[in-house]
Amino acid sequence: MQIGIDKLSFATTPFYLDMVELAQERGVDPNKYLIGIGQEKQAVVPPTQDAVTLGAAAALKLMTPELKKRISTVLVATESGVDNSKATAIYIKRLLGLPKFTRVVELKEACYAATAGVMMAKGLVAMDPQSAILVIGTDIARYGINTPGEVTQGAGAVAMTITANPRLLELDQVSVAASDDIMDFWRPLYSENAMVEGKYSTQIYIDFFLQTFRRYQEMTGRRLADFDALLFHLPFTKMGKKALDALLGDCNDVNSRRLRSALTASQLYCRQVGNLYTGSLYLSLLSFLQNGQASAGQRLGLFSYGSGAEGEFYSGVLKPGFANQLNDVSVDLASRQQVTVDEYEKMFDSQLGLTESDVSFETSKDPSPFLLSGQVGHQRQYQVNK
Ligand code: COA
Repeated sequence: MQIGIDKLSFATTPFYLDMVELAQERGVDPNKYLIGIGQEKQAVVPPTQDAVTLGAAAALKLMTPELKKRISTVLVATESGVDNSKATAIYIKRLLGLPKFTRVVELKEACYAATAGVMMAKGLVAMDPQSAILVIGTDIARYGINTPGEVTQGAGAVAMTITANPRLLELDQVSVAASDDIMDFWRPLYSENAMVEGKYSTQIYIDFFLQTFRRYQEMTGRRLADFDALLFHLPFTKMGKKALDALLGDCNDVNSRRLRSALTASQLYCRQVGNLYTGSLYLSLLSFLQNGQASAGQRLGLFSYGSGAEGEFYSGVLKPGFANQLNDVSVDLASRQQVTVDEYEKMFDSQLGLTESDVSFETSKDPSPFLLSGQVGHQRQYQVNK
């Protein structure tokens, strides 16, 4: 039975910050951010958005009345969860109006967890081929104002359905996962911002990529010539270049040129949004499909990485008509409003965060489909934007 991704969509916040303006404000050469890190714009999060509203917004873009009836399970991957007990997926399911008889759960292992969702969904579809599994990766990447990680912040969500006879990407049988207890990035329960050993994390990422890819090659016999693109989790776009360079070295043959050109296409959306954490790899996929030389029958390799650490390399084959199964990300990005560094800092500091108090947010300036309007009696208040 063919199983894979049937539809894929993306949502982000309505605001962005220009990285040249941030560099000037921080007294940094803008080329460090634009070239050294590889980021141009960064999604800025108003207090009215969180992992729930972003995840629901991404899923809304692929929803149809027929699909609502077919979804048996909602798997929401996030490291920006809003409750230590209650799953983000419950709120999202309610906002989407999915039926009562739906299984929901939240998954966590840093930026890797959406891929765990894809793999689990594959198993669920194998047991019930009529069903569709909704997998969402939704996050807000926060490192803190004036920290080295600030330029690699971002926010957004991807949503995808995993089904039998997929119309976008048929997944190959072999995938290679690996894990190790490593402190390269983490977020203690008392902190709203991530802790990161950035350069150590970069090295671990590359090690996991090379190890999982080589094992995949041993298991399948596939070589670089068998891939039309290698797609990466992108905490910042330079990370993808570092990983591909570690594999290709100085090689400039036809395979290397094809893979480098595909990487450039896959980095375009991340460059405009920043790190999505769980959704990042799948935004790279969307970016390649909408900006690269993608065509039906191509085999794509996907490398998922989550600090802590876990990595997985897997692959799939593009289906005819795949372009009709995506939302047009460039339209979303073009409709965003630019904010100043001062406005970004104010929004950064006005998130609901860890407060115990009742809070009410001004919602009229946020055009997103779902809103967090505040907190009452320790309960987050969500609403559909009419
Ligand atoms: N023009 C062009 N490039 C420049 C430059 C300039 N004026 N100034 C610096 N650079 C380059 C550096 O040479 C370096 O390139 P390299 O990485 O290829 O060597 C790059 O810009 C970054 O500079 P560096 O001084 O190393 O950056 P930093 O100490 O500020 O840290 C990160 C950068 C990415 C490590 C930091 O932002 C971070 O930790 N981010 C979080 C990463 C993360 O999320 N990891 C976990 C998930 S996988």
